[in-house]
Amino acid sequence: MSDSIITISGVNRIFSSASGDFQALKDINAEIPGGVLTILKGRSGSGKTTLLNIIGALDTPTSGSVFIQGQNIGKMTEKQRENLRRVQIGFVFQSVSLIPSMNAFQNVEFSMRLAGINKGREERVRECLKMVGLGSRMNHMPAEMSGGEQQRVAIARAIAHRPSIILADEPTAELDSAMAAEVTQLFKEMTRKENVSIVMTTHDTGLMDAGDMIIELENGQQIIRPETSTVM
Ligand SMILES: Nc1ncnc2c1ncn2[C@@H]1O[C@H](COP(=O)(O)OP(=O)(O)OP(=O)(O)O)[C@@H](O)[C@H]1O
Ligand SMILES: [Mg+2]
Repeated sequence: MSDSIITISGVNRIFSSASGDFQALKDINAEIPGGVLTILKGRSGSGKTTLLNIIGALDTPTSGSVFIQGQNIGKMTEKQRENLRRVQIGFVFQSVSLIPSMNAFQNVEFSMRLAGINKGREERVRECLKMVGLGSRMNHMPAEMSGGEQQRVAIARAIAHRPSIILADEPTAELDSAMAAEVTQLFKEMTRKENVSIVMTTHDTGLMDAGDMIIELENGQQIIRPETSTVM
């Protein structure tokens, strides 16, 4: 058994509709180790979100398999998959999805409740908000924070329950370029400090250098460039 935390093996995804079939992913293969930042790049429509959703057990491949820590998620029951999403994975989306009626602290604490963590919650929430540079904004409501600050709360929320994987779909798309670089750097630091494996999608070529590993998609196909597709 390899020590990769995510194994993607021969994944295909075909969307069927009245107007015919569309193959969004063609034979994708990757081994992603623990504690690295992986950047999933490619043009709009290349299949990035489709692949991220499959890794996060939000969607099912038409054929092929995804293993998380050696476990085939296609063989899990729906309840096991739900548990995987709540406990082992943290999600960050393009548009921030904080609960508007909860302040920063409560938003982060909520994901820990969902993951069933009862002990040491308050301390961990403070630690995570400090990690994203928001130690002084814990009581702010989402409406009282900038877009970048809200995205950092969402990142604190994704890490608080100590998942082994964070999946982030265009987490920097709505940020200016300085803030986008900062968030990417923050992800990189988190992989080291928290030993979490982060997979983020982006079109922003300025952010690629931060990645330990790059997976590039073109029309649903993986482009293999040996110099960038291995862990450095
Ligand atoms: N539910 C669906 N039914 C049919 N086609 C779909 C569906 N979801 C995605 N697609 C198609 O699959 C392709 C890949 O979509 P996907 O959302 O993965 O692209 P992406 O790389 O994330 O693009 P973007 O950068 O714009 O977010 C697109 O051509 C899209 O139209
Ligand atoms: Mg997308």
